[in-house]
Order: sequence, then structure tokens, then C-alpha cells
Amino acid sequence: MKKNLLLRRLVIPTFASLIAVASPLITLGAAAKEKVPQETSPSTLREPETGFRVLPYLQSPTSTSMTISWVSELNEPGNVIITGPGIKMKKLISAPHYMELMEYTEKELKQELTYNSGNGVVETIPQGSWLKSNSNYKHSVTIDGLQPNSTYHITVKQGKGTHTSRFETFPERENWDKLKLIAFSDSETEPFGALEHREWELHTVNPYAPGSEERPGKGSAFDKKYGNAARNNMFLVRYSLDQQTALNENLAHIEKEDPDALIITGDLTQGSGYQPGWDEFWRHFAGEFTDIASKTPILPALGNWETYAAINSGYGSDADRTPAVISRNRFHEYFDTPGDAENPQFKDSYYRTDMGPVTLLTLDSTNGIPDESTVTKTFTGSVYSGNDSVLKELVWAEQGVNGDPYITTDTQGEFTAESYYDAYTKVFKGTTTKDSDLPNFNPGTEQYKWAERQLKDAREKGQIILVQFHHAAYSSGVHGTPPNHTKADNQSGVAMRVYSPLFEKYGVATVISGHDEMFERSWVDLDGDGRGFHSYDVGVAADGLRGEKMIKDENGNYVPQDYNTYTQWSATQDEPEFWQTNKNGVKQLIDGGLHYGHLQMDFVKTANGTELTLTPVYIFPILDDNYDLVRTERRVYHDVQKIHFDKMGNVIPNVELISKSDFSGRRI
Ligand SMILES: [Fe+2]
Repeated sequence: MKKNLLLRRLVIPTFASLIAVASPLITLGAAAKEKVPQETSPSTLREPETGFRVLPYLQSPTSTSMTISWVSELNEPGNVIITGPGIKMKKLISAPHYMELMEYTEKELKQELTYNSGNGVVETIPQGSWLKSNSNYKHSVTIDGLQPNSTYHITVKQGKGTHTSRFETFPERENWDKLKLIAFSDSETEPFGALEHREWELHTVNPYAPGSEERPGKGSAFDKKYGNAARNNMFLVRYSLDQQTALNENLAHIEKEDPDALIITGDLTQGSGYQPGWDEFWRHFAGEFTDIASKTPILPALGNWETYAAINSGYGSDADRTPAVISRNRFHEYFDTPGDAENPQFKDSYYRTDMGPVTLLTLDSTNGIPDESTVTKTFTGSVYSGNDSVLKELVWAEQGVNGDPYITTDTQGEFTAESYYDAYTKVFKGTTTKDSDLPNFNPGTEQYKWAERQLKDAREKGQIILVQFHHAAYSSGVHGTPPNHTKADNQSGVAMRVYSPLFEKYGVATVISGHDEMFERSWVDLDGDGRGFHSYDVGVAADGLRGEKMIKDENGNYVPQDYNTYTQWSATQDEPEFWQTNKNGVKQLIDGGLHYGHLQMDFVKTANGTELTLTPVYIFPILDDNYDLVRTERRVYHDVQKIHFDKMGNVIPNVELISKSDFSGRRI
């Protein structure tokens, strides 16, 4: 089990904890028992070292080429040796460039991490132990002329470091048999994730399966071990896995499946402008924990956390949005995507990936114009209450507010596009506001026109079409309601519904999003012709474990808001928990409930076309009688979907629901 390989925890028994728990150390795991004097002085960064800071990771995959990128701390060229079909041995030398944006800030150097789990126990990590040197050099080489559907071996040498891996090129559209993609979102990595166990939401109306006992409560052994955090006025024990362990376990199960690509639908780090967040991200994907990105290409999307600088002034202020600009451009620095060739200023904001018979469009949902904000009470449409059935998305693109008085147009209420454009010119000297990397997504914009061109082209070529963007347009979570709602959210994805008619017109099969940190599936068929698309929130990579947005009813009880009328299934609503006390008198979760996980998509060629199986996977923790983690199991929620396509990639209507969310008791 990969757990806390780098970060040694310290436990500080507080005065409160000494009262609450006779011996707080007894309740903690082996890793936490070692008591070491706390280092309180700010860290001294180590000198740059030879070798890799970030191991080689695969980018811009096609059937005939691959880009291999990595990061070193020293300014010395590395090289890649590649062997495989059609290539005896090819050597490519890299030309490193310094990544100016990646240097630690003063606040990052001085940061201290202290975690209070709510049960009186406080934990910390030795100050600065998570920091590396302050030097980052990016290397990228692109290898062309590869053969489709073939395995290549690469050896990358960087100074005294050597790393070997293998990858497979995508198949051609006409010559393939199967393809496996895995998607998740909201990994939101940060060093603090080694300490923090997140709040673990429980449905207020449907919490338990028949025959289940209730969750461990206040003062229980589970509470003493993992602490607690209230949500919706309920006492809730925290989740048993810290976020670092959760991502390690999630990735370990993904690695076993060996997918052809890993789709990460935004919010990769807990603040893209916070460099320790990126260090932690790469530890997981191309570093000490795994090198999955060396074998499996990552296809990332920009989320709101990619415009957020965390302790370095968040989204910035009206007077200075440079933190948001630095954040987005760190994402662009790390990732190498095809982008939009006609609008290179947008860098890696949106792009197309063809994987044999499947086309994935990645959109940038982070900014819509006209700007809206719940803070300044700026709305495009009128304010309303109730659910989303008043919306007329079918006319949004053509008629705007004239066709629907309740239209919404923005996903980011924290800043205006104009303030971002101005800041861009401050970060990148010699540029004008027109050079900004922030696209708008609404009709008439370059991104919207690009998306329609790609959809049309992919449809004409007979592709199966998937789309990903961060802000779930159909969500029952806290971001589900738009800014012009009486129970508003300032970063809602509802404005992205402007794409739904296009998605239906061109036969998009599935839309993958995140942002609400739920596991939810909605079914969208606006024109009611039986053809539509699934819209997922797969925001369960490793951060929040959230459920439906709850509001107080007239009796003061928390009930689901039920804004999203398209919802079909969610892990909190439809997978109730089943707890049972074992023969040793220890209450254990047997199954059900909300867990970390991912969406697996298996495409198989059939005699008549293609079959796609969408499998919502959850990573279930098995705990011993002390509530220490023994292992995690890969389990599947009761909402596996199948989609059939004809030979031209068209969805065949009447989606077959092979497994309903009909949980009815213990399942081993
Ligand atoms: Fe988000």
C-alpha cells in the first residue's frame, strides 16, 4: 500500500484533545505514532539536483505520434531513445527551457500545515518537507512516424536519471477492436492532502439500506480515529482515507485496468497558482507514487482551480488578476495539447483528441461573457426560483435572453473577463489584451465556432463523440443552480447548457464533467426525440465527497433542492450505506455510500457497430477492527450503462439500463 511515502506526520496533542481523549495517540495509525519535535523555522530549499523533477509524461497522443515531456531541475538537455515497430532505435535530444512561472512564492516557503480533524487531535507535517528545489526546466520531444495500435518502448535519460516505460499508439478508425478510457475529476492535489480526511456526506432522506445500522456517531472509535465534520446540520464522521491515500488507491486500481487514456476533467490541483499543489500532483502521476502518466496519456481540462492561486491571493482582486493569469499559464506550461490551430493565443484551453473511432472534444468552461456575479448582482437573465424546467436551452444559442428570460451565461462570478485580460498584459510583457489565453465559450465566440466545426467534422467521419469540460451543466450539487437563482451559486455550470442543442444535433454520446465533487449521471434529451446524451459529474478523484445540495424546508429539515430535473443516478441518493456490527463488536461499512472512484468507458467493436459500457467504479476501503486501512477494493455502483452505435458512430436510441440503482441490502 502506498501511503504517505514522503510526508511524516506529527501529532500534537492539544489541551482540548487531552481532555477529550485520555491518550490521543492510541487512536492513531502506526504512521502517526512516532512523535518528533516540530521544526518551526521556515525551510531551507535544497539545491537543484540532477535527474527528473517530474518523470516523463505522455501528451498529444495520436495513432502515429506522441509527445513526451518531463521536468528537470538542472539546465541540461536530456534524451529519449525509442524502439518499436518501424523504428530500430531513434534518439531525440531535448532543449530545456526555464519555467519562470513555477518558482515558489514567499508564502509557499513559509507555509505551515496543521490539520484539526474535529475530534481534538491536531496533526502537522514538518515545515517545508514537501518542497523541492526552486528550479524547473521543461523538456518536450515529439516522436512522429509511429505505427498505429503499436507498442513502443522509451528510455529517457536526464542527467544521472534514467526512466523507462512503454506506450501504445491509438488505433486507426478503420482498424481497431477495443478501446478503454477512464475519467475522473477534481483531484485537487496539495501537500495538506496527506493529513486531511474529508467530510463524508450522507443523504438526508435516503441514508441507509434496509437493515443497516446507523453510522458511528460522536465519540465513537471511528470519530476518535478520523474526526468529524458537520454538513447539512448533521454530525458526520470523516472519511477513512486521507486525500493522498485516496488518490494513490484510485490510481492503483486505474493502473491495473491499463486504460488507453486518462481523462482528468479539471481542478487538477488545489490551486494551479500554488506550486506545492503541482509538486503533489506530479508525485502522484509522474513521480514517487506512480508513473502512470509515463504509460498512459493524460487528457486534462481546465477547471476553476486552474485559475486559482490558493494562498497566493486566490483569484486576485479587481485591481490585480495576475494570480489567475499565472495559475492558468502554469497549466499551459505543463501540458502540451493540439489546442486550436487558428487561435493559438488560447494555448491548451480547448482541443480535440481522436482515438480510433472515438473523438473527444475538451472544452474550456471557465469563463462566459456576458459576465455574471452574485456578488455584484450582475445577471444576464431574470432571477427565478424552483427547478430547471423553466429553462429553454433549445433557443439559447439563437435568441439569447429574447428566447429565454432565465438564461445564464457565465460560470465564474469571482472575476470579470476584462480584469483577466488586463492582468495578462502585466504577466506577459509586450502583449495586448487580445493575446489573452482566456476564451469565452458562448455562441459566436471562437471556441463555440471551433466546437461546432469539430462536431460536424467528427459526425461526418462517423466518429463516436465524447465531450469533456469542467463545470457540470447538469448537477444536483451546490454548483447546480445558476447565479440568477434565488438559491444561487457563483460558479455554476448551467451556462454550459448552451451547448446541449449542438450535442444533440451532432449525436454526442456522453459528456464528462466534474466540479461538484459528486458522482452523478443525468440524461439529457431536450427535444424529446429519444436521442440524447449522458452528462456525468465524475468529481470523485480524491478531494470532496459531496452529495446533493440540501435546503431547509418549512419545518427546518434539510431536504434535497432537486434543481436538476435531468438527474438519473447519484452515489449519495441511490447507493445508501449498509453498516453492520461484526462479531468483535466493531461497526463496519459493508457496502454502499459515497466513495472516491472513476468512470470507466469500454468501447468494443461489434458486428453492427460499437458497444460502449459506462461503468461507475468506486474504491471501497476495507478496515480492520481498529479502523486501520487493510486494502481497497474496486467495486461497481448499480448504474452501469450501455450505449450502442451504428457503424457511423450514431447513437442507437433507447438506452439499455442493464443495472438500476435498486440497492436492497448487503452485497459482497
Ligand atoms: Fe471546480
